Amino acid sequence: MTDDEVYAAYAPPAADWLRVNFVSSADGAATLEGLSGPLSGEEDKRVFKVLRARCDVLLAGSGTVAAEGYGPLVLSAERMAWRRAQGLPEVPVMAVVSRSLAGLDPEAGIFTEAPRRPIVVVPADLPETQLEPFREVADVVAAGTGAVDLPAAVAALRGRGLRQILCEGGPRVFGDLIADDLADELDLTISPLLVGAGPVRVAEGRAAAEARPLELRHVIEAGGNLILRYLRGSTDE
Ligand SMILES: NC(=O)c1ccc[n+]([C@@H]2O[C@H](COP(=O)([O-])OP(=O)(O)OC[C@H]3O[C@@H](n4cnc5c(N)ncnc54)[C@H](OP(=O)(O)O)[C@@H]3O)[C@@H](O)[C@H]2O)c1
Repeated sequence: MTDDEVYAAYAPPAADWLRVNFVSSADGAATLEGLSGPLSGEEDKRVFKVLRARCDVLLAGSGTVAAEGYGPLVLSAERMAWRRAQGLPEVPVMAVVSRSLAGLDPEAGIFTEAPRRPIVVVPADLPETQLEPFREVADVVAAGTGAVDLPAAVAALRGRGLRQILCEGGPRVFGDLIADDLADELDLTISPLLVGAGPVRVAEGRAAAEARPLELRHVIEAGGNLILRYLRGSTDE
């Protein structure tokens, strides 16, 4: 597929849209040696980059940011040019979800070298002493008590004009998004590997009250990987 075809294959169906992107082994592992990278291949990475180029905001949990060593959110010159041609700012905004901010470093490049001011998404009752070091380097979106109320946080992001939301996980954030019925799309690559017992699944943490139906939009086979695009399905029989 050409890059234009991949962009077209992931056109969002609505102006307000929340998609989630994951890679999993064939037996359901979301990590190998603690990371997603060893599960991923070249074509999965291309979709990953196209999805980043298509979003207004990239949302990730603090666990993923720490484990995967997220740096500043930058895109290649070609992807920035594609965004400019769409009338979008050259790069999306990075938003990190955390209860405590304890595992995040306000002096890390994800904040200090960000081309656009990032956002921390935190509970509204987080003490100011914990927030204060982040105020210089990030905007604060506060929602919920004790934990982030994700429906309210998503509404707040949309209120800032960040309507195309890409969530790159991790599993506990995705578990919450499913429980709150916020995921409009799941982009899932199944890699041809058996990892065995141990690693987390793509969704962990809070249980959902019911299973959410999905509609399979496409399957792309690339080097033995299945690149799946699911959209929110209808609950009608
Ligand atoms: N296969 C894949 O595609 C893929 C994708 C992403 C990540 N991963 C892997 O997943 C692992 C990390 O898993 P994880 O579950 O720890 O990641 P995570 O979901 O990114 O991070 C969990 C953290 O996010 C914060 N959080 C989640 N829900 C929250 C809520 N409602 N309110 C406030 N904070 C909330 C909490 O942060 P605080 O602790 O700061 O309060 C929580 O500890 C890593 O090994 C990573 O490599 C795999």
